[in-house]
Amino acid sequence: MNKTLAVLPGDGIGPEIINEAVKVCKAIGKKFGHSLKFDYGLIGANAIDKTGQPLPKATLELCKNSDAVLFGAIGHPRYDNDPGAKIRPEQGLLQMRQELGLYANIRPVNTFKSLIDKSPLRKELVKDVDFIVIRELTGGIYFGEPRGRSKDGKTAFETNIYSVEEIQRVAILAFKYAGDREKKLTVVDKANVLPTSRLWRETIQNMSKDYADVDVEYLFVDNAAMQIIQAPGNFDVIVTDNMFGDILTDEASVITGSLGLLPSISKGLLTSVYEPIHGSYPQAAGKNIANPIATILSAALMFEYSFNLKEESNFLKQVVEQSINNMIVTADISSDKSYSTSDVGNYLCNLILS
Ligand code: IPM
Ligand code: MG
Repeated sequence: MNKTLAVLPGDGIGPEIINEAVKVCKAIGKKFGHSLKFDYGLIGANAIDKTGQPLPKATLELCKNSDAVLFGAIGHPRYDNDPGAKIRPEQGLLQMRQELGLYANIRPVNTFKSLIDKSPLRKELVKDVDFIVIRELTGGIYFGEPRGRSKDGKTAFETNIYSVEEIQRVAILAFKYAGDREKKLTVVDKANVLPTSRLWRETIQNMSKDYADVDVEYLFVDNAAMQIIQAPGNFDVIVTDNMFGDILTDEASVITGSLGLLPSISKGLLTSVYEPIHGSYPQAAGKNIANPIATILSAALMFEYSFNLKEESNFLKQVVEQSINNMIVTADISSDKSYSTSDVGNYLCNLILS
């Protein structure tokens, strides 16, 4: 099979973790006889430095002409404490989501048995955690107009807005995932206060008749935030809007204690983007210490969902599991004996090709 990948390393540890993911993809290509082509593009603070734009046109074209996008991370501390900056790295990410129609972010949350002690929660609470959060990614308060400041600069405002079509599109995906799993869907909203949430609830209630095998429960977001900590094992598939999803996916990602291990898919209307759930971790940039596994597992998801190569995907997940069981892991996971970013990548490549 021939596939072209757009590779966007971005900022901070992005280039290092992407490097390992590309090495591992090449090893999988070699083992299974696929020809993978990697085309690199600029995004984020890095792109601003070189072109003045957080998402240069050339990067966007590259993504549109590729079979999938492998993305590292963006963000730079230089911008975090400068709310006045007109051009910001995050704009590149938001623009990419909009231009590629990345309407759903899918984050699996599960545990690795050998790492269960890393969770900030008690072992019995996390041992059976296995759920997926599906976050709407191109609508809501992140993009709604009008937004900005009043003329005198003393008032600021944004707009939360959703159409039935936007809700249906992401809900169809959520019902499909739930149908293939434990058949339980949790819709998270704030329908006691927000009109957009009431439209989410009404739309999904209407749709649920067509998915009679899936049990649907509705939770207010404040309650959901609590339940994710109190009883994370009770969830199967969660679907929610852009803002609530941003917050809950970060919360969900730490309960397994494996921030550096969790991958995600941003599902696009055409091309999809595969990226680790963690950020650019600028303190570790250039030190060869960051955990590349979340990015490598994102590549595994890419083999399955964009290329329909399930065997390759499962094989890659299995060698990752093997490396973790053998404790060939970076310092975020093992404080006594740890390996570098590139050690972990090399170990996986050797396992794949042995
Ligand atoms: C995420 C991030 C982004 C978001 C930021 C960097 C704009 O937090 O992907 O979850 O808020 O969506
Ligand atoms: Mg976030």
